[in-house]
Amino acid sequence: MTALKVENISYTYMKKTPFEKKALDNVSFQIEAGTFTGIIGHTGCGKSTLIQHFNGLLRPDSGKIYINGKLTEGSDVKEMRKKVGLVFQYPEYQLFESTVYRDIAFGLRGEKLTEEEERRRVEDAARKTGLTHDTLDRSVYELSGGQKRRVAIAGITVMNPDILVLDEPAAGLDPEGRKEILKLTKDLCDKNGVTVILVSHSMEDIAELADNIIVMNDGGVEMTGTPREIFKNVKRLREICLDVPLMTDVFSRLAERFPEAGIRRDILTVEEAACEVLRVIDKGTACGQAAEAEK
Ligand SMILES: Nc1ncnc2c1ncn2[C@@H]1O[C@H](COP(=O)(O)OP(=O)(O)OP(=O)(O)O)[C@@H](O)[C@H]1O
Ligand SMILES: [Mg+2]
Repeated sequence: MTALKVENISYTYMKKTPFEKKALDNVSFQIEAGTFTGIIGHTGCGKSTLIQHFNGLLRPDSGKIYINGKLTEGSDVKEMRKKVGLVFQYPEYQLFESTVYRDIAFGLRGEKLTEEEERRRVEDAARKTGLTHDTLDRSVYELSGGQKRRVAIAGITVMNPDILVLDEPAAGLDPEGRKEILKLTKDLCDKNGVTVILVSHSMEDIAELADNIIVMNDGGVEMTGTPREIFKNVKRLREICLDVPLMTDVFSRLAERFPEAGIRRDILTVEEAACEVLRVIDKGTACGQAAEAEK
């Protein structure tokens, strides 16, 4: 099933002023339910503008957006937000309640739930985002940066959106915090069936997490495909100010330098790199033994 379909959308900021800026130009793509999609593109290419269209925060000047097959044109923003949860960059700046529980529960206020139902939803969201039960009664200000960000994500997942969109969720965290937040997004997709869309400047993170990638350039879609399909296009990616994951770069250089070794060029992650090194060493040993035996 298609979770999100974007058809020829365009959007211009500050129309008919000297500051007019066309941020999206005829963008089309679709995303299947339950998949993990990465959106990459140079700074200012329109990523944040695009994702704000997914939950009705911005409306396209032209074009159509379908969520779960249903056209969103003219639909209620509240309804769209229940289906598509959007986590902004540095979402912890928007936490303001006295306790973690109240912050997570904030979005449920309009839902007229019983106290018991509300608690169940909040506890469920906390569990899915890796927050321990004792955290719920604490003040947000006592938490680490990574924990605060979990609270912000829990405040969106508590609405049980089918689609979760995150704008640079790991920005500004230390390496451990980054890993944890990204694992959490992957788990929401793999274990809870949420369709996840993640905007990131880290090619490594995208290569590791995404099933599919949308590459944006100057307000348009440059290419779409799996990480392996996308990161083959080193030259074009560099032309549009993007890069490939470090391991892809290292292994394609090694493959060029030692063609006789038969090294794969499509390595994406450190794990794949380690496997490839072992494979080549093993093969080298086997080749060496075969050569010895021939003598
Ligand atoms: N509120 C706004 N008013 C006017 N122009 C804007 C506004 N927001 C963004 N723009 C412009 O629209 C274009 C797309 O911006 P957008 O924030 O979507 O890019 P981005 O890909 O998210 O960039 P980054 O990687 O830096 O977050 C840019 O040229 C930007 O300057
Ligand atoms: Mg942005």
